[in-house]
Formats: sequence, structure tokens, C-alpha cells
Amino acid sequence: MSNLLAYIENNQSTYLEELKDFLRIPSISTDPERKGDIVRCAEWVAQGMKSVGLENIQIFPTDGHPVVYGEHLHAGKEAPTVLFYGHYDVQPVDPLHLWTSAPFEPTVRDGKIFARGAVDDKGQVFMQLKSLEAHLKTNGKLPVNVKVLIEGEEEIGSVNLESFLRKHAQMLAADTVLISDTAMFADEVPSLCYGLRGLSYMEVTVTGPNRDLHSGVFGGAVANPANALASIIAKLTDDYGRITIPGFYDDVLPLTPEERREYAQLPHDEAQYCKELNIPATDGEFGYNTLEKTSARPTLDVNGIWGGFTGEGAKTVLPAKASAKISMRLVPNQNTDDIAKKFEAYVRRIAPPTVTVEVSNLHGGNPAITPIDSKGVKAALRAMERAFGKKPLLTREGGSIPIVLLFQNILNAPVVLMGMGLNTENLHSPDEHFTLKNFYRGITASAYFYEELVK
Ligand code: BES
Ligand code: MN
Ligand code: MN
Repeated sequence: MSNLLAYIENNQSTYLEELKDFLRIPSISTDPERKGDIVRCAEWVAQGMKSVGLENIQIFPTDGHPVVYGEHLHAGKEAPTVLFYGHYDVQPVDPLHLWTSAPFEPTVRDGKIFARGAVDDKGQVFMQLKSLEAHLKTNGKLPVNVKVLIEGEEEIGSVNLESFLRKHAQMLAADTVLISDTAMFADEVPSLCYGLRGLSYMEVTVTGPNRDLHSGVFGGAVANPANALASIIAKLTDDYGRITIPGFYDDVLPLTPEERREYAQLPHDEAQYCKELNIPATDGEFGYNTLEKTSARPTLDVNGIWGGFTGEGAKTVLPAKASAKISMRLVPNQNTDDIAKKFEAYVRRIAPPTVTVEVSNLHGGNPAITPIDSKGVKAALRAMERAFGKKPLLTREGGSIPIVLLFQNILNAPVVLMGMGLNTENLHSPDEHFTLKNFYRGITASAYFYEELVK
């Protein structure tokens, strides 16, 4: 066994304990009350970089949450430079009562570690840091130059990262960007991701009368904002699961017959999929299969909807306001700002004239396709094969990482999406977890990646 592999195997229990410390910090980026925890988490990451052996570690304040940077640039001018990117912020934990163990008290059950952020993305960030450590502790050096950038605003759209990237383009310059924030196709089916969807996240508020009213006294003459909101939402899609916003599909790159053939060959068990989710059948755009619908076609979803009386029992009331958070997943070559504008114009047009509507654009990100013939992807394929003992598949995924396209456009560096998560690991849901064998193999695969890159 190589020194590298032996080192990683011997340190598994230490890795687990350290990861638990990372997971105990409730770094929920969207919650203003967690600002202190976010700062504490950034400091934890900086300390983690230091103990790994990185240098020039800095915590950069931004208009939002801090960015943490570290580097190790001793492989020589001829050697390639890899920029690893990840995020230390996490999603909110509600509904809290559905968690088997508390979200910020990491617990191991069944070979999985349960905690908010376990797989998205703290576990995967930590895995990458440990792969660097394994090289540095066993060889005293890295095969390539490495820069590490860990941000705290990914889950709220990376709003301040674009300007950071532009401002520090020199410091961040790299030949390859490596990201571990995606999933494998399935357990024991390793894969690399080469496409992500984009996002436009909107909030719509419908306002009716100046106060909540008795629904018997006024109902019938005064428009009900909740009814109006429901009718607006109903008009956003048709019976074929297509989105009705004019111009919505204008820039959608259609799947080529070849791509569709490749999709058809991916293993997928529709009955098992439905059973695991406890749904009677799948839904969505007519004419596409489940894998296409969840990764290569755009969608529109209500994320939350509220207004009026939602307590227990019945209250007869005609609410003054109703709101919904509505997001659209985008595919190449749709543009998030363009789609947000089209959404707003259409919602205003279809809103009944008896109410007023406000539409705001909360955040967004553009879709991305990463090149599959880059040196980085080829090295990652070999590294995954060595660590998992199987040739990885190449897949596109439905989630979004807003900064990916900007790395390719601003830094001009191809991105490699080498994730070790599973889409069944409840990211953003209660009982988020990370399968430990994939966490450990991920450390090995990442360590191999740096070796393969210079082969
Ligand atoms: N890691 C996810 C994205 C992801 C998940 C990619 C699964 C591929 C497979 C990331 O942290 C995330 O959740 N992104 C948000 C984007 C955002 C702008 C809030 C998303 O996709 O909802
Ligand atoms: Mn993530
Ligand atoms: Mn996420």
C-alpha cells in the first residue's frame, strides 16, 4: 500500500472527529441571527487550512459573509495550478421536528454522518482539505500548485463572490478549478458532473384590501389575494408541464439525439424512484424522461406559499396579502436576469386588475456546462476510477452552483465537478447525511486527482 493510502486509512477516526467539530457550527447563511456563527465558521476553516499546511491564509470580509483563502504554491512554475472552491455555509434546518438527531449535533448511524452540511458542503470541503494534508504529511509537498477558496454565501446565491473574483483574479488565477459540491449518479456508481442548471428565484406578493376582512361580510365583492395568487401560479404552467411565460424557452439549448441516446442508457428505475419518494407517479414536462427532466430541462416550482389564516382550526377571513417564493431552474443558454424580467412582465400581465402585485428577484445564477475533454476532467476520471474501482459516468445534474460559469468566464479556467455526495442524502432536507465510506474514498480520490494531473 502506498504511504498516501496508508496515511488516509490510519487517520479515519481523526478525520471523523474533526469533521464533527466543523458540523457543530450552525453557519446558516440566510439567517441574520447566525452572523456570529458564520464568522466563527470562517475562522474554523482558516484554522483548518493552517493545520493542513496551507500558507498565506486570509479571511476576506465582503458585503455579506467572509471568504476564506489559502494556498500552497511550491510545485514550480511548470506545474499546473488548481483552485479548489467550496462553501462553508449551510441551509436552514426547518422543519426541525423531522430530524432524528439534532442538525448541529453530528451523529453517526449506519455508517453515515447526520448533520446539516454533512454532504452540502462541509463534508466535501473537509475531504478536499484532508487530501491536501495527506500529500503534505507523507511527501512534504504537493504535485501541483494549489489555491483554496471557501465562501460563506453559496446557499444564498453567491451574491458577493462575482466582484471578489473580479477583484482578486490575479490571486485566484488557475489552470483548473476543482469543486466537490455535487453528487455521484448513485451509490457505487461513481460519476463526474459536467452540467448544472441555473436559477432565478423570485418572490411574488399579492395585495388586496388594506386589512384582513370578514369573509362573509366582504367575500364576493373584494378580490381575495390568496385566490388571485393561486390563479397566477396556475397560469405559469400548462397541462403538458410546459412553462407559459412568453419567451421562456427562447434560449434553451435542445438535447441532441445523441445526448438523448446517452441519457436513455443511464441506469434508472422509475418504479424504485417513485417508491423511494412515496409518490404515485412522476410529473413534469411531457416528452422527456425523469433524468432529462431533472437535469437538462428547465422547471418552475413554488418553494413556499403563505397568507391568511394558517393556524389550527378555522377562521373566516379574507386576507389582505398573500405571497409565494417561486424559483425557476434554467438550462444552457438561458440567462437568469433575462428570465427574471420575463417572469415579472408575465406575472404583472396575468394578475387580476382587482389586486396589486409586487415581484422581486431574490437571487439567481446562470446554468453551466463544463468541458469534458479538459486535462482536469481526464485526471478526475482516472482518479475516481482508482479510488472506486469503476469507470465513472459523465452526468448532468439539476442543482445549481452560481459561480461555476463565472470561474470559466472570468478566470478562463475549466471547472471539474468531482462530487462524492448522493442525491438521496437529504441535502437541504431533514436528516441530511454523508455516507462515510464515500467521504473516506473521496479523500483518496482527491489525493489521486493531484497525482493524475501531472501524469
Ligand atoms: N451543492 C448544491 C448544488 C447541487 C446539489 C448540485 C446537488 C448538484 C447536485 C448547492 O449547495 C446548492 O444547493 N445550490 C443552490 C443554489 C442557490 C443559488 C441557492 C441550489 O441548487 O438550490
Ligand atoms: Mn452545495
Ligand atoms: Mn446547497
